[in-house]
Amino acid sequence: MSLSALVMLGILLSFSAHGYANFRNDHIVVNQTNITCRDIEERRNITNDHGNCKEWNTFIHTTNERDITNLCNGRNRNRDGVLSHNTFPLTECHVTLDGAFPNCRFNQTKLKEQICVKCVNSWPVHYYSRRENITCTV
Ligand SMILES: *[C@@H]1O[C@H](CO)[C@@H](O)[C@H](O)[C@H]1NC(C)=O
Ligand SMILES: *[C@@H]1O[C@H](CO)[C@@H](O)[C@H](O)[C@H]1NC(C)=O
Ligand SMILES: *[C@@H]1O[C@H](CO)[C@@H](O)[C@H](O)[C@H]1NC(C)=O
Ligand SMILES: *[C@@H]1O[C@H](CO)[C@@H](O)[C@H](O)[C@H]1NC(C)=O
Ligand SMILES: *[C@@H]1O[C@H](CO)[C@@H](O)[C@H](O)[C@H]1NC(C)=O
Repeated sequence: MSLSALVMLGILLSFSAHGYANFRNDHIVVNQTNITCRDIEERRNITNDHGNCKEWNTFIHTTNERDITNLCNGRNRNRDGVLSHNTFPLTECHVTLDGAFPNCRFNQTKLKEQICVKCVNSWPVHYYSRRENITCTV
């Protein structure tokens, strides 16, 4: 079974996998090094809770989604503040002019940093940006 089929199965079976579906939509970019915040956030319908442009959003670039889901394996399966051992290339999107979605304007920055997530039932369900005041440990 392919990874995406497994993810689909997970979506059907479990609420935490539903959380992962959102995490994946909002934060994971496979095999693409250059993205445009406006294009990807429009294509993926990424908004804040009010349906407006999301002020901050970070995309994690990877060649293998499992490098991210594996963070929630083993003793981390239900741990908050899980810090990756490795760094990932990131694109951080910051809204500079908050029009009505999808007419958002962004300032985007490339970074290479460790990532910090919340794990529920072995799935990452929340990405902590470096601006959030939370303790993250490997
Ligand atoms: C991504 O963008 C950088 C900087 O603009 C450029 O040097 C690089 O060649 C691009 N990579 C790809 C795969 O398009
Ligand atoms: C986009 O997201 C909004 C708010 O979360 C939702 O109401 C809407 O149905 C979504 N649109 C599509 C095309 O998925
Ligand atoms: C991403 O690239 C890797 C390495 O080139 C490849 O093995 C993998 O199948 C690609 N994945 C997708 C979803 O394109
Ligand atoms: C754009 O992002 C860079 C780096 O994060 C920051 O230094 C700069 O102040 C930002 N500009 C705006 C207009 O938000
Ligand atoms: C960050 O959180 C700690 C502990 O929860 C708190 O003591 C501290 O004041 C917070 N710092 C900021 C800048 O909010």
